[in-house]
Amino acid sequence: MQTKLSKAINLLRDLCAQFNAIHIDPLEKKWVTISLMVVGLLVGIITLDAFFHGVNPPSKVETIDSASLHLSKEFAEENLGVQVDGKGAVTIRMVAGRYSFFPKHIDVPAETPLTFRWVSMDVLHGVHIPMTNMSTMIVPGYVAEVSTTFPKPGEYPLLCNEYCGLGHNHMWSNISVIAKEDWKAPVKSPASGEQK
Ligand code: CUA
Repeated sequence: MQTKLSKAINLLRDLCAQFNAIHIDPLEKKWVTISLMVVGLLVGIITLDAFFHGVNPPSKVETIDSASLHLSKEFAEENLGVQVDGKGAVTIRMVAGRYSFFPKHIDVPAETPLTFRWVSMDVLHGVHIPMTNMSTMIVPGYVAEVSTTFPKPGEYPLLCNEYCGLGHNHMWSNISVIAKEDWKAPVKSPASGEQK
C-alpha cells in the first residue's frame, strides 16, 4: 500500500517536472489557471449542492414496470388514491393513462404536507395543477414523486401538460383541497406495497 502510494506520488512529481520543463507563455499560463479555477468552482458548486441539497445522479430513480402496474403491490387498484400511514403522513398514489388520471377525483387536506406518487401506464404524461407549484413529468417506467402543500382550500383542475395523443386536451381530472379541520382521512388499510 505504502509503496503504491509513493509510486503514485513519484509519478505525479515526474509529470509536474515535465510540465514545468515545457516552455509556456506566461499569458497562456494565466489563462490556463483561470479556466482551471472556473472548472474547480463549478465542480465545487455541484459537490456542495449534492451534499447539502440532496442533488443526486439519476441512478437513484425508482423504476416500475408500466405494463404490470395492476400487478404491482403499490399501484394495484385498491391502493390508489389518498392514504394516511401510521405516523399521519399523507401519500397520494395516482396512475396516468390515455386519457385520464386514476382515481378520477381525490380529496386532500389543505396546509398539510402531501406526497404524490405518480406512474404512467402507457406513454409520457405530465401533471400540472394551476395556481399551485405542483407540476411534474410522468415518464413511463419511473415513479414520479413530488412533495407539496396546498395552502388554500378549493377545487383545482389537474391537467396533463405533455402531449400524449389525440385525447391529450381532454386529459384532466379534479382535486378538492379541503380545509384541514374538515378533512377526514379515508377509511382504507394502508398500502400493503409500501416502497421498498
Ligand atoms: Cu396525458 Cu397529455
